[in-house]
Amino acid sequence: MMRNKSRFQRVFFAALIIALGFASGCAGSPWFLAGPTVTPTITPTASSTPPPTLTPTPTITPTPVPADDSQLALTPPMGWNDYNRFGCNINETLIKETADAMISSGMRAAGYEYILIDDCWMAHERDANGSLQADPTKFPGGMKTLVDYIHAKNLKIGLYLDRGSKTCGGYPGSYGYETQDANLLASWGVDYLKYDNCSPVGNLVTDYQNMHNALKASGRPIVFSICTWGFPGYWAQGVGHLWRTTGDIKDKWSSMLTIIDANNVNSASSGPGHWNDPDMLEVGNGGMTDVEYRTHFSMWAIMAAPLIAGNDLRTMDQATKDILTAPEVIAVDQDPLGVQGVRVSRIVATKGPQVWSKTLSGVNTRAVALFNRSDEDASMTVEWQQIDLPSGPASVRDLWARTDLGLFTDSYTVNVPAHGVVLVKIVSQGGASPTATPGQ
Ligand code: GLA
Repeated sequence: MMRNKSRFQRVFFAALIIALGFASGCAGSPWFLAGPTVTPTITPTASSTPPPTLTPTPTITPTPVPADDSQLALTPPMGWNDYNRFGCNINETLIKETADAMISSGMRAAGYEYILIDDCWMAHERDANGSLQADPTKFPGGMKTLVDYIHAKNLKIGLYLDRGSKTCGGYPGSYGYETQDANLLASWGVDYLKYDNCSPVGNLVTDYQNMHNALKASGRPIVFSICTWGFPGYWAQGVGHLWRTTGDIKDKWSSMLTIIDANNVNSASSGPGHWNDPDMLEVGNGGMTDVEYRTHFSMWAIMAAPLIAGNDLRTMDQATKDILTAPEVIAVDQDPLGVQGVRVSRIVATKGPQVWSKTLSGVNTRAVALFNRSDEDASMTVEWQQIDLPSGPASVRDLWARTDLGLFTDSYTVNVPAHGVVLVKIVSQGGASPTATPGQ
């Protein structure tokens, strides 16, 4: 085509382009006459608007508002933890099926809400960014997906970390990673953290305070469970929502007795938002009789202990289910006054019968456990004087049988089977001595 253009056309187009070049007002030569390419300098005139700034706007990550965790655990937490029954043999299927069973068994309706994954959920190494990661074999869908599954069932989820360099199972510890680990848990939507005490590097109190501060700073309200295998001290009240008062429970009568006695020592430190934790339940794990498991559950309720089931919810029998979901026993545990019940009888003998009393909300109201630690059935009596009630008539209700037993004057006597507890609610019909305040 070009070859066919006439000389006139070529001259005409060249002239036109030159004219346009000058008319555009560009300084210097038109671009097609110039030698090397130059970038035109634009000198703004006085009246021109300044060029828009090209500096990119920095992405601002908002600092999370510190979480208000003061309204958590106003009654003792209720849930399930895998450790007593499964140890390190845990995986995504078990956790999902347990969440399903929590609903279908009636445990959720009875008040259990936390699904707690204990030690051994992690990979053995942190990732390249230093983040903890779920073991990809045990939890192939990842932790966030599992959290969402649990939440979709109207349940909450907890994880386990350790204040030292390694967890008790040998997985990465959180020492020096408190902020990173707290933020990771918050980003996954975790609701509860059990923080263990193995392989310590730093100072116990400081380490727990650091993790508490990191959890608060993450912006997510997270229940903080301190696990130091013995009463940590009153400092823990402002740091954790619960703390272990004992070593690990075993599914044995003797272990349970040791734990009950140890948990009684600092009863006054417990109250709404900060609970003594005598460890998780063994109900249904097979090492005790149903009578003993009823005793276990009754005593945890009298002591306002966290009720964390530790059995296989998927396969539990009716007797186990009936113990774990007994509504009037759970109501003793969950009483809003939040007083930890104590031994009130003078007989301290390990194998002797003992009377324990818990002040409940309401005027002159007590839960009383007639606790027969001996190997023989025993006739046991609670006197109103022992439990700080006025003399005179009081109503007595059996909380396991859910039956009113009638009015009794000054005392109540009942036969209690060996290793058993009779758990009653006693309401004085007489004068009005003041009800104790929480934590006393
Ligand atoms: C410690 C705790 C237990 C459990 C194990 C897990 O022993 O006291 O409750 O968490 O670690 O390894």
